[in-house]
Amino acid sequence: MIATIALFALAARAQAGPVFRLNSRQEMGGHNHGGGAEAKSGGGMGMGGFDITNPTISNMISNALYYGAILMPKIPVNKTETLKPQSSVPGAKRVRLYYGPMLLESAAYKLKIPNKIGLDPQGNTWYSQAANFPTDISVLASKINVADINGKPLGVKDGVYNHHTVVADAQKAPNAFVACPGKSAAGSVPVAILASAGEEGGQYKFTTDDPKFSGGYYLGKGDRVALFAEIVNYANTTRDVYTTLDMEYVEGKTQYEVSAEAISVTQCDGTSIGLKPAAGQMKFGAVSKEMTIQMDGVLFGSRGHLHDGGDYLKVIVNGKEICTSQPEYFGKAGDAKWDTIKEMTTCKDPIPVKKGDKLVIDAGYDLNKHPARSHLDGNTAEEMGVLNVQFARLRDTK
Ligand SMILES: *[C@@H]1O[C@H](CO)[C@@H](O)[C@H](O)[C@H]1NC(C)=O
Ligand SMILES: *[C@@H]1O[C@H](CO)[C@@H](O)[C@H](O)[C@H]1NC(C)=O
Repeated sequence: MIATIALFALAARAQAGPVFRLNSRQEMGGHNHGGGAEAKSGGGMGMGGFDITNPTISNMISNALYYGAILMPKIPVNKTETLKPQSSVPGAKRVRLYYGPMLLESAAYKLKIPNKIGLDPQGNTWYSQAANFPTDISVLASKINVADINGKPLGVKDGVYNHHTVVADAQKAPNAFVACPGKSAAGSVPVAILASAGEEGGQYKFTTDDPKFSGGYYLGKGDRVALFAEIVNYANTTRDVYTTLDMEYVEGKTQYEVSAEAISVTQCDGTSIGLKPAAGQMKFGAVSKEMTIQMDGVLFGSRGHLHDGGDYLKVIVNGKEICTSQPEYFGKAGDAKWDTIKEMTTCKDPIPVKKGDKLVIDAGYDLNKHPARSHLDGNTAEEMGVLNVQFARLRDTK
């Protein structure tokens, strides 16, 4: 039950985009962040009707994680390396934590005995606690990889497919930073993510580029940290891998408490996160309902998550456009008729917001401008419009 709910959280976030960067395989037809290195087969789990933007479901997931984590087995830290900090924030430290060894069964074994607790029948799945995680710290930035014992990241070319690896705070409910019209405020994500990666690797930043800005994600003293992973081994030999977490942090609390948020254009619609255009429609989009920001703070690092065919994602505060995140496409290769998103631009500048401010997200698709493979195939791909953004809230001083 607990594993199932945690799985739901993961699967749901797979749908929500690259904050988790899950590269959920059922959507691969038209969805390729990594630029072609991904496997093209495999059965994903259909989560179509599941609505993580529903406050009740979101709360249920964070509660399940809170209590469930107590029962999860611990993955030990095999070694810790001290690295040179990359930011000039006073007091910043940087470490690389090696979690593992994590044993990957062979591909042949998984053919005989498929994985039943994950998202991929070929996957090796962990729902665990990260042992001896540093706490009473504020995380400034994180980056996660599946690696060998020397810290060399492993990928598809090495016969290893990192379906997802996620480090999350199991102790604190996610920040309830927006409310939908007529509804109580809810977390924009079901669990508070500290780091996560799919195939292309992922980086998180919990502070701005300004070293004088005192912000970070605070992990309370002794807080439990969950480590979820699903890794596919394409080789017919077992192997040991490690989840490496590069983490930059300062001791104690920062002035601003920063959380990673993901808000869908469908946030207030009570539907699943996918946008389904009518067949043959080339230009379409969705505008969210007006959400109310629940506390004074600062928004920074706004970046859209769109699928192929996407044209823009706009962030509008009190009727004023504060950010337009645009995709950069790879460009059509050879005689291919489709194009695929390479990355989305980020609006780095901090935007101060006040309690009561109104937030709207507007996502647009244009398949004439950006032909998507899934549409050429005649499939109705599920599109989405999600804003990934950091919200920094001034810490309560009382
Ligand atoms: C680290 O992993 C290696 C290789 O699996 C193992 O031999 C060693 O005992 C581990 N060390 C610790 C401290 O867990
Ligand atoms: C692994 O073994 C299975 C079953 O024996 C076989 O079908 C598959 O081709 C093998 N894969 C590799 C990469 O050798």
